[in-house]
Amino acid sequence: MRMVDLIEKKRDGFELSTEEINFIINGYTDGSIPDYQMSALAMAIYFNGMGEKERADLTMAMVHSGDTIDLSEIEGIKVDKHSTGGVGDTTTLVLGPLVAAVGVPVAKMSGRGLGHTGGTIDKLEAVEGFHVEIENEEFINLVNKNKIAVIGQSGNLTPADKKLYALRDVTATVDNIALIASSIMSKKIAAGADAIVLDVKTGAGAFMKTVEDSEQLAKAMVSIGNNVGRNTMAIISDMSQPLGFAIGNALEVKEAIDTLKGEGPEDLTELSLTLGSYMVYLAKKAESIESARTMLKQAIKDGSALASFKTFLEAQGGDGTIVDNPEKLPKAQYTFELEAKEDGYVSTIVADEVGTAAMLLGAGRATKESEIDLAVGLMLNKKIGDSVVKGESLVTIYSNFEDVSAVKEKLYANITISSERVEKPTLIYKQITE
Ligand code: URA
Ligand code: CA
Repeated sequence: MRMVDLIEKKRDGFELSTEEINFIINGYTDGSIPDYQMSALAMAIYFNGMGEKERADLTMAMVHSGDTIDLSEIEGIKVDKHSTGGVGDTTTLVLGPLVAAVGVPVAKMSGRGLGHTGGTIDKLEAVEGFHVEIENEEFINLVNKNKIAVIGQSGNLTPADKKLYALRDVTATVDNIALIASSIMSKKIAAGADAIVLDVKTGAGAFMKTVEDSEQLAKAMVSIGNNVGRNTMAIISDMSQPLGFAIGNALEVKEAIDTLKGEGPEDLTELSLTLGSYMVYLAKKAESIESARTMLKQAIKDGSALASFKTFLEAQGGDGTIVDNPEKLPKAQYTFELEAKEDGYVSTIVADEVGTAAMLLGAGRATKESEIDLAVGLMLNKKIGDSVVKGESLVTIYSNFEDVSAVKEKLYANITISSERVEKPTLIYKQITE
């Protein structure tokens, strides 16, 4: 086989076979296929797309380009959740303990990453003593015992995707449905998921800005999952404004505790129940999505969801008493209020820009080397559709420095108030369950 012939084949709109895709991914991973040929192929895929079988083949070729995690010693069906990335998205912190409470094994491998806030691990490290440096064996034992554990990313997972994603980034070939879908799915499958629930975000703060594009991406991922023997379901959810009220690490841990108690923000609660009920259903712990939802509501009501969070934190060295005393979480030195300059209704809260404001406070990393300040961040006191009176606080700013003028400026520029009544945005646009 010669790479140049395969580039030509894709350029001319033909389908690549399983063997051809394996040849490409193996060759690219081991360096025998150079970047310039892979760039040409990525561009040919960008213009001509890939069929369902090609997408599934590309996904599995990337899965097998490196290590895969074996979770077979964990009892039950391992369901993983993936979000395409949001601002202040506290759902992972809520969902883990919530579904674990009804018996779904949550074996989470998580990273730190860049972004407006830290990743799941950073957020959890706001709990004193909590750590993810545990051995594989302990990880497996903990999931079997408590139904939930989190371990730091280790091993050489999907090196082909790492290399290809970096190449796409500099060759204008990132935003292609086939390439995005196979990239995301390969990572989930390599990490050991038997079944996958996807939260595809849509709106200003999301990768995909329109519902139509988001739906296409969701369908592509569901189809890959089902083609490679992993039951997959997806929803399209709103990311025109941040999710919940909290954007920041310790602030989001507190928000997760509130939600597990049944006292969380409406949107975060609803999204967690929806995604959670899919997870419970796919793990075969409920007969239907509706009965799964009933089980989860019960777990919130009877305190078992919160108890599951406490057990999980303590099992990994964390101070579980923060669940009852969240005031023990790291606290910022200063708080400031962003006062509304006029009466009216909140009409936009541009999610990614508000996320950037949290990052200016130190809540997230701009580069891999940046230090995160776990205590700082933003609490939204108003969401889109809420009425507001001049002088009322729109946002509380938690900061460890005194001059927050740049943060305030950014927030004022991205939170608008309209004199006319504004509808609340739809939270869940679509559900893709087959
Ligand atoms: N996220 C990924 O992991 N891969 C893509 O290709 C795009 C977004
Ligand atoms: Ca939040």
